[in-house]
Amino acid sequence: MHMHTTLAPFITFTLAFILLCVRLVITAQQQQQAACLNQTCGGIKVSYPFKLANATGCPSFSSFFELECDPLNGYLLFNKASLGTSANATADLISLRVLALANNSIILDVTSTMVTMKLTPNGTLCDGDLKSLLLPSFPSPYVFSDENQFGGFGCAYGVLVIANPAGNNTSFPANISASFTDVSLGGCDMLCPSGGNNAECGHNQCCVFHWPRGSFPRWTLYAAERSLLSAATYDPESCSSNYATLFHPNYTDFDSQKYGIKLMWALPSNHTTHLGIMQSPEYACSNFSTISLVQEVPGYLCYCLPGYTGDGFAQGIKCSDIDECKDVVQNDCIQGQTTCYNTDGNYTCRCKSPFQVGDGRKSGSGCYFSPTIRNAIAISTSILGLIVAIASFFTVQVFWRKRLKRRYFIQNGGTQLQKLLLLGARGEESRKLFKVEELQAATKNYSSDMKLGAGGFGTVFKGVLANGRVVAIKKSNKGVDPTQLLNELEIMVQINHKSIVKFLGCCLETVEPLLVYEYVSNGNLMENLREGNHIIMNWGQRLKVARQTAEALAYLHGAAVPPILHRDVKSSNVLLDNNFDAKVADFGVSRLVPEGATHISTAVQGTIGYLDPEYFQTLQLTEKSDVYSMGVMLVELITGLKPVDNNNREPRFANLALLFIHYMNEGRVEDVIDPRLHNDLIHTRCSILAVATLALLCLSLHGSQRPLMSHVSEELHHIMDEFLDSPAPLHQPHDLGYHRTSFGAVVAKDLQLSVQTGRTPASSSFMSIDSSVLDCTMPR
Ligand SMILES: *[C@@H]1O[C@H](CO)[C@@H](O)[C@H](O)[C@H]1NC(C)=O
Ligand SMILES: *[C@@H]1O[C@H](CO)[C@@H](O)[C@H](O)[C@H]1NC(C)=O
Ligand SMILES: *[C@@H]1O[C@H](CO)[C@@H](O)[C@H](O)[C@H]1NC(C)=O
Ligand SMILES: *[C@@H]1O[C@H](CO)[C@@H](O)[C@H](O)[C@H]1NC(C)=O
Ligand SMILES: *[C@@H]1O[C@H](CO)[C@@H](O)[C@H](O)[C@H]1NC(C)=O
Ligand SMILES: *[C@@H]1O[C@H](CO)[C@@H](O)[C@H](O)[C@H]1NC(C)=O
Ligand SMILES: *[C@@H]1O[C@H](CO)[C@@H](O)[C@H](O)[C@H]1NC(C)=O
Ligand SMILES: *[C@@H]1O[C@H](CO)[C@@H](O)[C@H](O)[C@H]1NC(C)=O
Ligand SMILES: *[C@@H]1O[C@H](CO)[C@@H](O)[C@H](O)[C@H]1NC(C)=O
Ligand SMILES: *[C@@H]1O[C@H](CO)[C@@H](O)[C@H](O)[C@H]1NC(C)=O
Ligand SMILES: *[C@@H]1O[C@H](CO)[C@@H](O)[C@H](O)[C@H]1NC(C)=O
Ligand SMILES: *[C@@H]1O[C@H](CO)[C@@H](O)[C@H](O)[C@H]1NC(C)=O
Repeated sequence: MHMHTTLAPFITFTLAFILLCVRLVITAQQQQQAACLNQTCGGIKVSYPFKLANATGCPSFSSFFELECDPLNGYLLFNKASLGTSANATADLISLRVLALANNSIILDVTSTMVTMKLTPNGTLCDGDLKSLLLPSFPSPYVFSDENQFGGFGCAYGVLVIANPAGNNTSFPANISASFTDVSLGGCDMLCPSGGNNAECGHNQCCVFHWPRGSFPRWTLYAAERSLLSAATYDPESCSSNYATLFHPNYTDFDSQKYGIKLMWALPSNHTTHLGIMQSPEYACSNFSTISLVQEVPGYLCYCLPGYTGDGFAQGIKCSDIDECKDVVQNDCIQGQTTCYNTDGNYTCRCKSPFQVGDGRKSGSGCYFSPTIRNAIAISTSILGLIVAIASFFTVQVFWRKRLKRRYFIQNGGTQLQKLLLLGARGEESRKLFKVEELQAATKNYSSDMKLGAGGFGTVFKGVLANGRVVAIKKSNKGVDPTQLLNELEIMVQINHKSIVKFLGCCLETVEPLLVYEYVSNGNLMENLREGNHIIMNWGQRLKVARQTAEALAYLHGAAVPPILHRDVKSSNVLLDNNFDAKVADFGVSRLVPEGATHISTAVQGTIGYLDPEYFQTLQLTEKSDVYSMGVMLVELITGLKPVDNNNREPRFANLALLFIHYMNEGRVEDVIDPRLHNDLIHTRCSILAVATLALLCLSLHGSQRPLMSHVSEELHHIMDEFLDSPAPLHQPHDLGYHRTSFGAVVAKDLQLSVQTGRTPASSSFMSIDSSVLDCTMPR
């Protein structure tokens, strides 16, 4: 443990040192590598597989690729070729200046290898000079390019080039004269003067021999032939300017007599197949490259794969991916429509539109809507269109419905009614305009189980508003003239009485208005009076209903401005709440009496049994018609009988009014008192008889003989008071309760009147009402 602690710093230091060294070595290697890729001489860049001979540490494929750099004039020198002369045929290595270095060729200055004519001393004959330029044989990488040419310049001499196409014999031919004819590759004769001004050799007098295409000989022999001319025509001056040389037209300047040739090179290989080459240990190409075979060497060249750039040599620049997207010239993407993404060795042009497919290339498929996407777009477009169409249809419908609602609203006198509603709202529970939807929801879309009752022109539904309030909603039947409800509406907005069913508001958005009333829970009076009803209304309750009804009707006739005639007073239109308080309802056929008018002429409306016979005959509607109906209702309260009954009563008494009048005239009214009241008759008899007398007055044939509704109301009020004040039976003889009221006089007067005006035979017996009938001191 102790040892460790002392050793630790040392180990750390050592490790750090090693790491530093490794790092330094790596850095040095990297620097060396960079330097090797940046060798230059004479402005010519030298890199793998070449190297400068003094660039120690830099790799080259073989010593054949080592080039010299002339320190004197900075020339890059190629010193792998040898030159033999006619004086000494043994080939010696020569230094040739490198004019250019390319990835598969090298350009050499061969001006020094030019051959010239030799003159005899007497100047008559010239002997041909001879030179041979040799390239080292395999595994040398170099061969002559077939772009080179052989040219003879001057006049009257022939030139010759001899080459061994196989390039496998570096020995000089022993007998050149023999070689001229035997192994000649080709040549040309400079025939003067016709051979002059040749554009191929800079407008000199010359002949040009084109190197046979496809041959890359390793060595060549070239010579100037002896003169073809006679001595007489020989001109020594011109003879001295005769010469011949190899040249490449692109690297030759004829005027300054500078001649360059092109050599081809490749990486030599024994193998003749791609696979063989690539599997050989000396294989020099990098990743992402391929090779091409060069049969003439034989060998191969490294090429970067398409999409990569570099020299293709593992020890050179290698091959690296080209970022085609950086440069719009390099990529084929359609500008604007695509986004270019570089990939390894390639790039993709992604169409910007999410709906388009294709390679996004100008030369490719470009960007287009694929059939599926086009279909999808077509389908979604049509779906969208459909949705839009449906949406607009509904919008238009909603719009029209709104317009329709508005129209109905106006048609229903909405604005006027709205004003009235607002006026009516003062000081009481406000009436409001309901929305169709609100009422639809309240009645479960007018479901039949919410139905409270149905009449000829309308149906009443029970409804529960959103706030929990129970209401009754009155709705016209389909196809029925909605004016009745409108009429009712017009009346209801004007009245407010505790014994008239409370009008809460209406909905004017439908063809016919919907009227909303308070819900009165205990049904109507008729139902409550019917035999078999489990609750038997006692006289006190009946009297109260009578009084309240009369009060409400009196209010309509007198207190309301203008006067309102109910026109359909009947027991089924008097609703009862849980306290048996009356609520007069159903103003469907009611009429507003124009101010100052005593009556209005209308078609007969009302309910059989309650209908005022005078109105029936004269069609003149007055408030006394309601009084008649009220009379019938009073009789109903007394007798508990139906106003009209054809089944249980003899035909002449089918009408309750007639039956009642008959019994009254007979003095037998007590026979028709509701038997359900009998057990209390001692207490109620006088009160009942008083109401009966009042009813009789109300049923007078002539309206003029009937009391006003206000009087009826007043009288019932008194009768009620009497009844409540004196629960004990009245024992005083001839004490007709109502006689003590002011109304008693009216009754007497009216009775008198009815006698004077004459009655129908049935009612003429009215006169014979015995006072004993009305004597409530005589209990039965
Ligand atoms: C290559 O060499 C030249 C000068 O010889 C120098 O200016 C240049 O920076 C070098 N480049 C690299 C990549 O080393
Ligand atoms: C090789 O020699 C040439 C000419 O003297 C010189 O310019 C160059 O720097 C030398 N290169 C090396 C790596 O020594
Ligand atoms: C020919 O050249 C070679 C090499 O330079 C030399 O060894 C030989 O002596 C020369 N022969 C003659 C005859 O000059
Ligand atoms: C050499 O360069 C030329 C032009 O720069 C090119 O076309 C050719 O493919 C290259 N050859 C190799 C082997 O890299
Ligand atoms: C020219 O000179 C050569 C020797 O130099 C000689 O052999 C020849 O005969 C001469 N020819 C003429 C025509 O004089
Ligand atoms: C050299 O070339 C000739 C013909 O061009 C051929 O016949 C001969 O076999 C070759 N020799 C060698 C050693 O390749
Ligand atoms: C090379 O050429 C010389 C002279 O023409 C000849 O003697 C020799 O046999 C040749 N060698 C081969 C291998 O062809
Ligand atoms: C060279 O060949 C020519 C023609 O074939 C012949 O005349 C001459 O004698 C030969 N010379 C030698 C040295 O063999
Ligand atoms: C010489 O150069 C010209 C223009 O630079 C070119 O068109 C022609 O192909 C070249 N000739 C050869 C043989 O390479
Ligand atoms: C060519 O093959 C021979 C024999 O197999 C071998 O000695 C030689 O090194 C090879 N040369 C090259 C460049 O592969
Ligand atoms: C070629 O690529 C492989 C894998 O990408 C790598 O292991 C290898 O070193 C690379 N070779 C060269 C010469 O870069
Ligand atoms: C790049 O990809 C395109 C499309 O996939 C293909 O047509 C092209 O040949 C590829 N180019 C290269 C260099 O791999």
